[in-house]
Amino acid sequence: MTETGATSVPGLAEIADIGRDTVRGGYSRHLFDEADRQLREWFVARAAGIGLDVDHDRNGNIWAWWGPPGPGALVTGSHLDSVPGGGAFDGPLGVVSALDAVQRLMVSGFRPSRPVAVVVFAEEEGSRFGVACLGSKLLSGGLAAGTALALTDASGCTLAEVMAAAGLDPARAGRDDALLSRIGLFLELHVEQGRGLIDLGVPVGVASSVLGHGRWRLRFAGQGNHAGTTLMSDRRDPMVAAGATIAQIADLARARAGARATVGRVDAAPGGTNVIASRVDVWLDSRAEEDEVTRALVAEIGATAAAHAAAQGCTAELTEQSWSGTVHFPDGPRMAIGEALGAVPALPTGAGHDAAVLAAAVPTAMLYVRNPTGISHAPEEFASAEDCAAGVDALETALRSLAGRS
Ligand code: GLV
Ligand code: MN
Ligand code: MN
Repeated sequence: MTETGATSVPGLAEIADIGRDTVRGGYSRHLFDEADRQLREWFVARAAGIGLDVDHDRNGNIWAWWGPPGPGALVTGSHLDSVPGGGAFDGPLGVVSALDAVQRLMVSGFRPSRPVAVVVFAEEEGSRFGVACLGSKLLSGGLAAGTALALTDASGCTLAEVMAAAGLDPARAGRDDALLSRIGLFLELHVEQGRGLIDLGVPVGVASSVLGHGRWRLRFAGQGNHAGTTLMSDRRDPMVAAGATIAQIADLARARAGARATVGRVDAAPGGTNVIASRVDVWLDSRAEEDEVTRALVAEIGATAAAHAAAQGCTAELTEQSWSGTVHFPDGPRMAIGEALGAVPALPTGAGHDAAVLAAAVPTAMLYVRNPTGISHAPEEFASAEDCAAGVDALETALRSLAGRS
């Protein structure tokens, strides 16, 4: 990972040693694992240390309030979990910037005209249970509690079991209207995950939209067998069907302008070098500006998989794991932030965010901080200390303006 970059941002330096992935590089911080538990403890202590009142909601999200909770609260924050082998900035930058900006407002003697809160959303990356933005989807009702609680992690534990072990009552998970009614605006600061701000040569921008995106499992099933004794003519090998499908996916996506399709994970069972697989799960992420384009692309990938499976005497089954339609952030908050900050560019993004999920229930907006590598979900993700400071300045200015002057 980019050691100096993360550690030269003060808040990130405090958590730099939590959840390092010595095998993949970068960080692996997944819902309620040891790293996530330590990050949550750090957040609670840090928020309490600056005088905020910490509260845990019914869905695994943590709230730190300045003033009595809601209504009309101005909420900022992001997430602390990561993808496997992720960078230091995706999520944590928004949390440490939120704490810094709110602390600055507090010590300056500013008196907000509405409550202010810092939030940490649970399982934004979906790295443990497969559904991105799990905490914000549960809170906003974007995912039914029953469906979420039955999700399993790689070792077969259900979300219900994992929540219970973390001290949460799974029976209380789900849409939380009382909490939603307290939120006037959620403003999430995030490292930019593409090249928009690099190309524009500015450190900070606001979000205009988030591409619709989803995750699907393509399960290829065949006949497990012996790698040495099974003639090539006698095989029903799902790995061959999976490989042929994967090889076509990039071209199928390129045929639709702006569409993206990614296979970043393949699980073969039983997974032995001298064993013909009995089953191969191929995990597909697909995104596009227009939701119908994503739907059509995924349907075509499913048909391609079925054809390759049939050619190998296998079957292919396509199952949707999660879906979030394209979100255009509301004009009002974006324009108000633009007025407070002066000329800041508005950027679309292909990355998913809790702010986009929550947009279905409450007004939301986002600030981006330039990432000079243009790389994210990888250890090379970066933001300079100067740009991160510009992000905190922008967030403080926006919060001060939105919360009204004393
Ligand atoms: C999360 O960052 C995603 O875009 O999947
Ligand atoms: Mn993120
Ligand atoms: Mn991410």
